[in-house]
Amino acid sequence: MTPDIGSVLFSPLTLGDVTFPNRAWISPMCQYSAGADGIPNNWHLVHLGQFALGGTGLILTEATAVSPEGRLSPNDTGLWTDAQAAGWKPIVDFVHDQGTLIGVQLVHSGRKASTSTPWTGTGYIMPADGGWSTLAPSPIAFTGLPEPEELTVSEIERIIADFVAAARRAVQCGFDVIELHAAHGYLLHQFLSPLSNQRTDLYGGDFEGRTRLLREVVSAVRDVWAPGRPLFVRISATDWAEGGWTVEDTVRLSAELKSIGVDLMDCSSGGIARVPIPVGSGYQVPFAARVRADAGIATSAVGLITDAAQAETIVRSGLADAVMLGRAVLRESHWVNLAARQLRGDERWPAQYGAVASS
Ligand SMILES: Cc1cc2nc3c(=O)[nH]c(=O)nc-3n(C[C@H](O)[C@H](O)[C@H](O)COP(=O)(O)O)c2cc1C
Repeated sequence: MTPDIGSVLFSPLTLGDVTFPNRAWISPMCQYSAGADGIPNNWHLVHLGQFALGGTGLILTEATAVSPEGRLSPNDTGLWTDAQAAGWKPIVDFVHDQGTLIGVQLVHSGRKASTSTPWTGTGYIMPADGGWSTLAPSPIAFTGLPEPEELTVSEIERIIADFVAAARRAVQCGFDVIELHAAHGYLLHQFLSPLSNQRTDLYGGDFEGRTRLLREVVSAVRDVWAPGRPLFVRISATDWAEGGWTVEDTVRLSAELKSIGVDLMDCSSGGIARVPIPVGSGYQVPFAARVRADAGIATSAVGLITDAAQAETIVRSGLADAVMLGRAVLRESHWVNLAARQLRGDERWPAQYGAVASS
């Protein structure tokens, strides 16, 4: 008889001093719903709050900018002002009140900044229309967007300081996790990839040069983020493009990041160039598995994980330590509660929903 070892998806995971009650987490998702002040509002409270009722072990906020010019769109949330921190606090408190943890994803979007909300327009917003000119490691445009200005070293130092200031505010808000967004073609990824970084100074050239900014941001953030609080990095494990960032680069960098205080690599892919990607069920899971095995660091898997049994298999087989869920939880905010019921007959509804358990 096969012993019942229970669900691994619904077993706790400890990183640093923090224990996540389960391993089914909410992936960061931009909502383009803040005003020009970047302060999260009732939309963000209800949107993120629904997942806290839904039984997840960790909610990550949308990509939240460390500076006004680091926003993807004029309607992104930020963490560069005290008023924004004050806006996040009740959301963090509500999530904690439901027994769930919450992390903030910090971003600078570099050459992909100043773009419109997807449902109101397409592409770049000109400065005359409320947008701004963009900055990047090299003056190389992303397809369909304008050529960015090349950052000077003092501007790079300013960006590191912006990440640190945002991390300090994350402490004030009570966030449990910081995730640095180094994926999907945003600024930190733009420095990593040879396709977007053709600098010849300390921040470009070889692997050490291209990874320098991310390593410096990690070290600087780690200094202000309590040692026991988990620090995640979301990475695009491959650019899926000739001459781009590779899985081997990701493994090498992940081991280095572990040694300077990163707790978990959140393994996504793509976004630096418009190239075909072989999208399919769980298509990025092999990246999380490879990084976990070869770099010896905890990983999360993301991308078309839609089914409870699939999620259970990923963590049970040691392919990743946790899964992140995106569109599946937008469709069904109680996805995690339903998965608990399916995988272990466990009813985890909020007490207020008690009647659901007996139905
Ligand atoms: C509406 C929406 C907004 C997103 N915004 C972000 C974001 O802010 N930061 C990020 O790293 N990924 C973002 N993503 C990507 C998701 O986090 C996730 O990696 C992707 O959707 C694949 O997972 P899924 O197949 O479970 O949806 C977004 C995805 C969606 C659907």
